[in-house]
Amino acid sequence: MSGSAQQLDQVRDAPTAPDQRRGDRRRGRLIYRHTALVRATHWINVVFLTILLMSGLQIFNAHPALYWGEVSNFGDPALSITAQRTEGGASRGITTVAGHQFDTTGWLGLSKDATGRSAARAFATWATLPSWQSLAEGRLWHFFFAWLLVLNGLVYLLFGLLNLHLWRDMVPSRQELRGIGRSAWDHLRLRFPTGEEATRYNVIQKLSYLVLVLVLLPILVLAGLAMSPRLDAASPELLTIFGGRQSARTIHFIAASMLVIFVIVHVFMVLISGVWNNMRSIITGRYWIETRAGTDA
Ligand code: HEM
Repeated sequence: MSGSAQQLDQVRDAPTAPDQRRGDRRRGRLIYRHTALVRATHWINVVFLTILLMSGLQIFNAHPALYWGEVSNFGDPALSITAQRTEGGASRGITTVAGHQFDTTGWLGLSKDATGRSAARAFATWATLPSWQSLAEGRLWHFFFAWLLVLNGLVYLLFGLLNLHLWRDMVPSRQELRGIGRSAWDHLRLRFPTGEEATRYNVIQKLSYLVLVLVLLPILVLAGLAMSPRLDAASPELLTIFGGRQSARTIHFIAASMLVIFVIVHVFMVLISGVWNNMRSIITGRYWIETRAGTDA
């Protein structure tokens, strides 16, 4: 039921005292926007994905380079993050993408650890789980929470399909698709829907959630599974679809990076489009819709 105003929970029609003083007529209603299941799976996802991202970076640190194809070609990685010594003898963090080198000292390749000492590692200690270098522990965290994430995702998808949440709230109508240009322009000007229009996700929100839930997260999980030797033995087709083990690792990394970009934009939009109302809706389910605003003055 999330995303559309299915249940009218409470109606507040009287202007509040400060509004009356200013002559405002702030009228509206609280709608029930997110079901308990959507809220619970959303926050469980946030915790699990944070753990998976940090433990994934720990695993990446053990061999901080990505390749395309079946085998790793150590001489020519698609991406690498290393510490290198310059001619003057100083160490620098160097990130190489498709043969182009960037100095990323302080962020990638070479960064300060908790004691303030320079540490030669792809991702900094604060970004990995555990913070110290340990491939074995990183893998334990990663694999355990990956299965929990899959379970949580399946619960979300199953209920989303059964109660039509995915269909009703996330699949845009033709009319909405035709208005995508206007919606994009409104987003660029940081103008957000109000009134009746705000009772459901806007078309850009719908498409981004849909792509996230039905495309990006499944690719992330499947590329991860393709790297599992046990699964490869049982079903080698998956690895073939991803174009080999190294390609699967690179796609897994790219999908995780896109997820991070999604989260940055998502949280930014939450913050600027009415942070308290948005947070209340994804925590309690209730979302305030202003139906009329005006002034007597
Ligand atoms: C791993 C990170 C996150 C992912 C993958 C994610 C994903 C999503 C998805 C798919 C929805 C739509 C849920 C549905 O209707 O079924 C959603 C809604 C929402 N999320 Fe997140 N989210 C993440 C992090 C966060 C964080 C950190 C915040 C808070 C700062 C947040 C706040 C919200 C809010 C307020 C909504 C409801 C938006 C609305 O009603 O218009 N999310 N999120």
